[in-house]
Amino acid sequence: MFAEAYARLPEQPRPTTGQEYRDRQSRLTAQLRNDDLLILSSPPFAVHSNDVEYRYRTSSDLLYLTGWAEPESVFVLRYVDGAWITSLFVQPKDTLKEIWEGRRPGVEGAVELHPVDEAFNNDELEAVLASWLTNAKRVFLRGGVNPAVDGLVQSAVQKRDRARQHFGSGPVSVEDPSGIIAELRLRKSPSEIEQMVYASKVASIAHELAMRHSREGVTEFQLQSIIEAFFSYAGASGWSYPSIVGCGENATILHYTTNQDTCGDDEVILIDAGAEYRGYASDITRSWPISGQFTEPQREIYDLVLRSQRAAIQACRVGEAYTAPHEAARRVLAEGLIELGVIKQDVEAALNMESGELKKWYMHNTSHWIGLDVHDVGVYKPGGEPRLLEPGMCLTIEPGLYFGAWRPDVDCPERYANIGIRIEDDVLITSDGPVILTEDCPKSVEAIESIVGVPL
Ligand code: GLY
Ligand code: MN
Ligand code: MN
Repeated sequence: MFAEAYARLPEQPRPTTGQEYRDRQSRLTAQLRNDDLLILSSPPFAVHSNDVEYRYRTSSDLLYLTGWAEPESVFVLRYVDGAWITSLFVQPKDTLKEIWEGRRPGVEGAVELHPVDEAFNNDELEAVLASWLTNAKRVFLRGGVNPAVDGLVQSAVQKRDRARQHFGSGPVSVEDPSGIIAELRLRKSPSEIEQMVYASKVASIAHELAMRHSREGVTEFQLQSIIEAFFSYAGASGWSYPSIVGCGENATILHYTTNQDTCGDDEVILIDAGAEYRGYASDITRSWPISGQFTEPQREIYDLVLRSQRAAIQACRVGEAYTAPHEAARRVLAEGLIELGVIKQDVEAALNMESGELKKWYMHNTSHWIGLDVHDVGVYKPGGEPRLLEPGMCLTIEPGLYFGAWRPDVDCPERYANIGIRIEDDVLITSDGPVILTEDCPKSVEAIESIVGVPL
């Protein structure tokens, strides 16, 4: 069913090398003191119902530093005899469990396949970690993930034993390492970009397939299923966030995920769906007319959003503030809505965050970082000032206009009733200008009108 579409994908990229993970670990330890201990735990399973769990997804920080994706694991960095040592506590080999749940790499697999110096069975965690903690002064711990680890750290801090009294040993402070790791994750390496390009290409083709399958009477969940089935077919682990598939007035609900309605010929559908590949997210939104031809009002709004998106992408340049794309998009949207007679204020008044009318129809931000998390880590305003864009940063550009005729808080212009348009691409900042990772996804009016309803 997907063979032809799949053939358009490039080969899957090589996985990140062990050496690169070690380099990331070194960049982290370069910011630590020799008497620090850093602990990252994998999150617990989330229950779907009764004894059924959701697909397991480990923490992005663990993926970033080790590539280790197994559950019930703890990663520790500590300094011993002049060198930083990396350790993983992992699920022990257990034949019965492996018969039921799947093979486990175990201690040997962890050291053999992953960039860590040593591994332990996780049932040794308490004893081993307690002894390491006595040699640490400062512990970096992301709390609230693994209560057993939190308890060990807390009791090590509180302990008032002879060793502490005589030698002052034991930790005296606990800090969150998230900020330091986030700063590393914010700038993507060439290998990370390769993974993101693949995730983006998979999602681009998936959106095109949904366009091609669109016709009057198709349901939102049918289009969702095509998109998500292609993610799996192409080797992605699934979606990077729950797919938003809304036609008609549902397109005016920013994070609509019910996806149960049937599409009418005169409606626009908005699909916001991205694939996750080796932990990396893509995040694409496209909006198109179910009939395959924009009506005049639909086209007016689509053109305007597209112009604003292109202006925002042009602002994705090294040295620009991360807010520049948002400002560019807002200005184009405000000018356009004034021209269309939707906004009766002047541009500056329309842009005003308190009293401007633009925010009635465009109420969200234009960008977020994207990487191992779809809303990726990295402080937007370090020290209160907007971050300046640097090569390797990746962000989305996703302006939209939403005319929900159902909304009691606004007078929706009749001409645009229940038109919801968002256009979202993922952009890499380079010194040569913006690179659109999701550029394969059809976007121009001509491309969309030539594709919608036309099977491959
Ligand atoms: N899909 C969520 C977002 O675009 O941020
Ligand atoms: Mn997004
Ligand atoms: Mn999105």
